[in-house]
Amino acid sequence: MSKPKVLITRVVPQEGIAMLREECEVDLWEEDRPIPRDLLLEKVRDIDGLYSLLTERVDDELLDAAPNLRVVSNMAVGYDNIDVAACTRRGIPIGHTPGVLTETTADLAFALILAGARRLGESERFVRAGKWTTWSPMLFLGQDVYGATLGIVGMGRIGVAVARRALAFGMRVLHFDTLPHPELEVMSGLRAVSFDTLLAQADFVSIHVPLTETTRKMFSTEQFKRMKRTAVVVNTARGPIVDQAALYIALRDGEIGYAALDVTDPEPIHMDDPLLTLDNCLIVPHIGSASVATRTRMATMAAENLLAGLRGERLPHCVNRNVYG
Ligand code: DGY
Repeated sequence: MSKPKVLITRVVPQEGIAMLREECEVDLWEEDRPIPRDLLLEKVRDIDGLYSLLTERVDDELLDAAPNLRVVSNMAVGYDNIDVAACTRRGIPIGHTPGVLTETTADLAFALILAGARRLGESERFVRAGKWTTWSPMLFLGQDVYGATLGIVGMGRIGVAVARRALAFGMRVLHFDTLPHPELEVMSGLRAVSFDTLLAQADFVSIHVPLTETTRKMFSTEQFKRMKRTAVVVNTARGPIVDQAALYIALRDGEIGYAALDVTDPEPIHMDDPLLTLDNCLIVPHIGSASVATRTRMATMAAENLLAGLRGERLPHCVNRNVYG
């Protein structure tokens, strides 16, 4: 019997690729850039399974081009690159990788909170530029994290993991979410507040909501105006949740103090984006889940999802469970 055909859209940790090679005919895109759209539409023509990343748009156009497709497995917890309704209409289950990247992403969010507080981006650039001439009592004064208020927007797994870190650092933690979170009642030191209260009281705001039509540009001119002038905004979720043009103005005009971003809109950020001209903005290239162990686990988990779909079994981690009726 012939093996099912799968397309892996980028080189991922070997463990995931090896699992698929045992049971499938694998087409692996080896270049370190997304497959150009036209070529992607050609490559999906006869595949049974698609192993995708957040750089691939899986929409009606792609699904129409892939008449044999039986399963999509996204190597990410987020799936805003996938038209879920379009897959469900065609009976195609979608896999994703929840849970395994929680702590790693929370580590990066906390690293960005600390980097924003202590102006690490600027001070590192200062040293490399040869400007460090003496110890100075007024050099790069930042903010204390200890005793400060952290506002967490979105209390899913990653938001909660950031809250744990913040409490250990002696921070006061406010949080806002549209969903109830009964599990949080066991964590003392947290306070649920309205979005406006969080914006007004937080010294640091960390964003952990998924990108949806409701959260798109959830942070824009009005929200920045409600924040403290010293506020540090950290985004490790998705770029379009923040109105980037409004963020630039808020940072430039001192309406807020600092932004530390793991995600931008678009990705990669355009090199002429004015945010890149600001000293009070630190940007890293979407590396929230980028530890060896976590990316390896994400790769194998995505392979497990894909293989289950190809065998006609339920995906262990399925986004659109209603596909099973
Ligand atoms: C995700 O999983 O959604 C991240 O953004 C990439 O790890």
